[in-house]
Amino acid sequence: MTTIIRGGTVVNADRAFRADVLCFGDKIVAVGEGLEAPPHATVIDASGQYVMPGGIDTHTHMQLPFMGTVTADDFFTGTAAGLAGGTTTIMDFVIPDPKQSLLEAYHTWRGWAKKSAGDYTFHVAVTWWADSVHADMGTLVRDHGVNSFKHFMAYKNAIMADDETLVKSFTRALELGAIPTVHAENGELVFQLQQDLLRKGITGPSAHPLSRPPEVEAEAANRAIAIANVLGTPVYIVHVSCAESLDAITRARAKGQRVYGEALAGHLVIDDSVYYSSDLEFARGHVMSPPFRGKHHQAALWQGLQGGNLHTTATDHCTFCAEQKAAGADNFTKIPNGCGGVEDRMSVVWDAGVGTGKLTPSEFVRVTSTNAAQIFNMYPRKGLIAVGADADIVVWDPQGTRTISAKTQFAKGGFNVFEGRTVQGIPTTTLSAGNVVFSKGELRAVEGAGRHIDRPAFAPVTA
Ligand code: URP
Ligand code: ZN
Ligand code: ZN
Repeated sequence: MTTIIRGGTVVNADRAFRADVLCFGDKIVAVGEGLEAPPHATVIDASGQYVMPGGIDTHTHMQLPFMGTVTADDFFTGTAAGLAGGTTTIMDFVIPDPKQSLLEAYHTWRGWAKKSAGDYTFHVAVTWWADSVHADMGTLVRDHGVNSFKHFMAYKNAIMADDETLVKSFTRALELGAIPTVHAENGELVFQLQQDLLRKGITGPSAHPLSRPPEVEAEAANRAIAIANVLGTPVYIVHVSCAESLDAITRARAKGQRVYGEALAGHLVIDDSVYYSSDLEFARGHVMSPPFRGKHHQAALWQGLQGGNLHTTATDHCTFCAEQKAAGADNFTKIPNGCGGVEDRMSVVWDAGVGTGKLTPSEFVRVTSTNAAQIFNMYPRKGLIAVGADADIVVWDPQGTRTISAKTQFAKGGFNVFEGRTVQGIPTTTLSAGNVVFSKGELRAVEGAGRHIDRPAFAPVTA
């Protein structure tokens, strides 16, 4: 398949320039002005539009068994929804049960992901510790293209990693040239606060943010950063939602520590008023962890992205329908935690970031694609429009608008936290591995067309 994208402005993280882009097979084979193309080539007219690397969502949960249920989007519907929004690679999470072999869980998730329509790769969670976990981490890095390990500091009595696990796993990751990542919330504090609220009879969704205040997140962020500092490992903090966590990252980076932070599209634009709605189904639909925060936290997160202390944008796409969320109708701690967004992240970040002058188009590419590719070692295969890179491309109309709604979305779950938001800046065409998978509103995602992306270790593997 040969495709030429003509007349657009290529936007990479370092610069923007007028150029055509020629794709052959799954690769970009030429970038330049006035390119020749064979007569049989598919021609995409990008005049007046930007031509950008496909988005990388560093944080999704497709087909995740979680809190007694399974997310509404599987790897096909979830990746297809991503393609419709200009996201061509997702980074999902293998989450073994405590005591389950990491390798066994990894193979289970690989099986589920075979139906993906877009490319995917996995962080693997370390939810417990034993010699076998140490060994499995080595096998995953050496033989399976895994270079990042996730640690949930929350979800006590389920998947929470204690300090011993954090220390041992971070140490092992360093040996292997892999990067530790953390969900930073103090799970013990969350648990105690939840019990206090329930004892007082506060059982509705408005209790959710009360059980997870910013200090709870900040404590865990500071602890993870301190552990990483002592051990000399880098650390990546997922879904940074509050000013206090960002401060911890900013302080550490100012001292030269290699700490990375991820912001969610939702945390950037939605505030905690959603939990106080009298429409309890609506409020439950927004229950995710960390929760949406007060408005001043959003301003801080934007400053983090602008100032280079937050590096990636993601969604934590983890969809549950209203019936699933209703499991917590009488007890907020039983509401399955998670919201969607993989279809909307690129437009939401463009609209609220580039549209308001907070980000340039190149900075947008950096925080939606390039930084993710670099931090997780997929660059320059991903995150760049250049010869030799994967032909994962989004043709972007900066004038185009769309009103986001669960009624028109491709993602499952029947709910959208961005409901009713009109965004300016939309994809008109998405190419994944050289194939047109989305064009002017029409989704042409193919089940099983997505590929697993191996991510090599950051240093020679010696252990
Ligand atoms: O509420 C959330 N974020 N659900 C998904 C699991 C996680 O914590 O990332
Ligand atoms: Zn999390
Ligand atoms: Zn998550």
